[in-house]
Amino acid sequence: MFERPKSGERAVLVHLELSQEEEREELSEFQELAVSAGAVPVAIVTGSRRTPDPKYFVGSGKAEEIQAAVQSYAAELVLVDHPLTPSQERNLERLLSCRVLDRTGLILDIFAQRARSHEGKLQVELAQLRHLATRLVRGWTHLERQRGGIGLRGPGETQLETDRRLLGERIKQLQRRLEKVQRQREQSRRARQRAELPTVSLVGYTNAGKSTLFNRATHAEVYAADQLFATLDPTLRRLALPGGGGAVLADTVGFIRHLPHDLVAAFRSTLQETRDADLLLHVIDSADPDREAKIEQVQEVLAEIGADEVPQLEIYNKIDLLPDQAPRIERNAEGQAIRVWISAAANLGLDLLLTAIEERVAGAALHRSLRLPPSAGRLRATLYSLGVVRSEQVDSEGELLLEVEIGRQSLNDLCKEQEFAALLM
Ligand code: GTP
Repeated sequence: MFERPKSGERAVLVHLELSQEEEREELSEFQELAVSAGAVPVAIVTGSRRTPDPKYFVGSGKAEEIQAAVQSYAAELVLVDHPLTPSQERNLERLLSCRVLDRTGLILDIFAQRARSHEGKLQVELAQLRHLATRLVRGWTHLERQRGGIGLRGPGETQLETDRRLLGERIKQLQRRLEKVQRQREQSRRARQRAELPTVSLVGYTNAGKSTLFNRATHAEVYAADQLFATLDPTLRRLALPGGGGAVLADTVGFIRHLPHDLVAAFRSTLQETRDADLLLHVIDSADPDREAKIEQVQEVLAEIGADEVPQLEIYNKIDLLPDQAPRIERNAEGQAIRVWISAAANLGLDLLLTAIEERVAGAALHRSLRLPPSAGRLRATLYSLGVVRSEQVDSEGELLLEVEIGRQSLNDLCKEQEFAALLM
C-alpha cells in the first residue's frame, strides 16, 4: 500500500457545458465530490462545447487553459466532470504531465474510501479494476513515479504495474470471492425471512441523514460524516419497535445523480437489499432548498434498480433547521402513515418514526408460501374467507401448499391463534 498524501491533492476541476447533453451536473455537486475524495480544488476551468473533442475531450484551446492552470497552481491532479475515453485520459495526461481522473474514476475512488463491509470492498475493487482494465493498454509509464493519491487508492496502488493478464486473474479471483459472499448474504436474508423479521431499508440522497438516523434508531455507532457517500454498503441492525416487535434496519446507499452504470452493476447485490425490503424509509433533508429535485433523483435511481414498487415512508429529516416544524406523522386519506417529520440529530420525533414503521410493516401485504397438514382445514378456510389465497396445490402426502398474499402481522396472528406458527415456510 502506498501512503496517502497527508494534505489533500491540489486539483484543477474541469466542467464543460455540452449542448448535446440534456442536463448538466451541478458544478457545486462536482466540487463536493472532489472534496469528498480528499482533493483541494485550486482552480476551476469551465466552458462549453457542442460535442466532445475526440483527442482531449475539451478543445485544444481549453486544453492549454487547463495546462496553464495546472502550472500556475502547481496542481497534482485534474478532475474532469465527464466520462473520458481511455485515450482522451492518456492524451490529457501526456499534455498536462499530471494525473487526470474522469467522473467515473472519481466516484469509484470515493466508494473505495467509504466501503465498509467485506462485500462492499470487493465490489468497489472489482469496479475499479474493470475501469482500470480499459485504460491499461500501455502508456502508464509517463506517470510511473506517482503513487497513491486520488484514483490510485485501492487496487490502483498495487496493480498499476501489472499487465492485463494479472489484472484478468485478479478480476476472476474477486468475482469468485464475491459470489461466495453473495451466497452468504442470500442465506442470511433467508434466515431473516424465516425469523419473520421485516426488513426496512434506508434510502435517500447523500447527506440526507441516513447514517445519523440509523445510529439513533439502533443505538449503533456507524460512521457519519458531513460528506457525500458516508454510507455505501448495507449495515444491518436490529430495530426494536414500540409494540415489542422487531425489524431489521439496513443502512444502504447514498444516492447521487447519474450514478455511473459500472457502479450500479457492481453494487447490484447490495442494492438487492433495497429491492427486497418490506419498507423503504426515504430520508429527505427537509431544509434543503433543492429537496424536490433530489426526491425525484432518488425515485429515478430506485426505478433503475427495480425498487420503485417497494412501499415507501418519507422521512423529512432535519426539522431542527426549519422554523416552526414540530415532529409529526402525516397520513393519507385512508389513514396510512406516509410521511414523518423528524430530526435525527436533535432527537425529535424518533418515537413517531418507530410507530409509523410499525404500522406500515404490520400492514404490508406479503407473498408467502405455506405448507399446511391436512388437519389445518380451519386455517385454510379462514385464509380463503379473507381472499388472500393465490394458488393451492396438494402434494403426495396430502399436505397443502398455499401461496398467499397477506400482511405479516395478520398472518402471524392467524397462525398463532390457530397454533400453526411452525408451519410458515
Ligand atoms: P451519505 O452516506 O452520504 O448518503 O449521507 P447520509 O444520508 O448517511 O447522511 P449522514 O447521516 O452522514 O448526515 C449528513 C450530515 O447531516 C451530517 O453532518 C449530520 O450530522 C447531519 N444531520 C443528520 N441529521 C440531522 C438533523 O436532524 N439535523 C441537522 N441539523 N443535521 C443533521
